[in-house]
Amino acid sequence: MTMTMTMMSSENIDRLTEMDECRELIEERLHEMFTEAGSNYATLVEAMRYSLLAGGKRTRAIMCMKFCQAAGGRITDALEAACAVEILHTYTLIHDDLPSMDGDDMRRGIPSNHVEFGEFTAILAGDALQAAAFETLAGSHLPDDAIVEMVKIFAQTAGAHGICGGQYLDLSGEGWQLTIDEMLELYSMKTAALISAAARLGVIAGGGTREQVDAAHEYACAIGLAFQIRDDVLDTISTAEELGKPIGSDTLNEKSTFASLLGVEACEKMIRKETVKAINAIDGKFHSTEFLTWLAEILAERRN
Ligand code: IPE
Ligand code: IPE
Ligand code: MG
Ligand code: MG
Ligand code: MG
Repeated sequence: MTMTMTMMSSENIDRLTEMDECRELIEERLHEMFTEAGSNYATLVEAMRYSLLAGGKRTRAIMCMKFCQAAGGRITDALEAACAVEILHTYTLIHDDLPSMDGDDMRRGIPSNHVEFGEFTAILAGDALQAAAFETLAGSHLPDDAIVEMVKIFAQTAGAHGICGGQYLDLSGEGWQLTIDEMLELYSMKTAALISAAARLGVIAGGGTREQVDAAHEYACAIGLAFQIRDDVLDTISTAEELGKPIGSDTLNEKSTFASLLGVEACEKMIRKETVKAINAIDGKFHSTEFLTWLAEILAERRN
């Protein structure tokens, strides 16, 4: 028992070190962005940096870099793609918090973008971040055909059949009890789509095979569902201090969530099931899946 625990904790330390290595590269690159000074619209650029550099977990970016490595590339081959994913994700969070959407006044432990800068600046900061995400991805140091494929995936993810459609279903469903199938569809669009894009972009950046892209998609769809269910659970059982965003937002907005429909215990079971599904989807399909397996496990238990 002691032996197992010792082994587990040393594995944990190794994996945490790998995660920190990715996170440091991502933070460094993101900090270099949008630093051009002296324009008349400096406040807009400041608003973009305000939310982007406020310290998100960088989960999607880390996943992107680690899928790249699992497919045979170097983590830095996917650095632009990973940053692009984080930039797009930050735009979705800025817009998600707006009064006309979830109306939340705290994000990543600080006042939401519109609280700090006002609504029109927050909308435009989100818009500009979305454009910058595409520019960043297109600037990847990779063969042109890989970049074209990545940009296409990214555009499909961001649009009506991905995040925007998912957010539409989420917001237009407020005040109604959606069915489980409707909720599965909206979760897959608003959350899992971007997580899948991160994973697939990583595989493509690493020069992976079609089979590996498909396996990454399967892994990330299951992780994405588990991730959003965990987010919903945390909205009911955590604290604003721990989450860095308000709790009780879903109840206040009368959202249909798995937490409200099935309760916390059933959600924990669903999260476990999806986590196992994710791990099985990549088993034996890459050079190494240890990190991605560990990542799936820790995301299932995450507290923020
Ligand atoms: C929050 O995403 C939005 C959801 C899809 C649940 P994260 O929990 O990854 O937020 P950050 O990036 O760490 O702030
Ligand atoms: C987030 O869902 C989905 C997107 C931002 C696309 P939530 O609205 O549950 O995310 P949080 O809880 O505000 O981070
Ligand atoms: Mg929302
Ligand atoms: Mg929200
Ligand atoms: Mg939430």
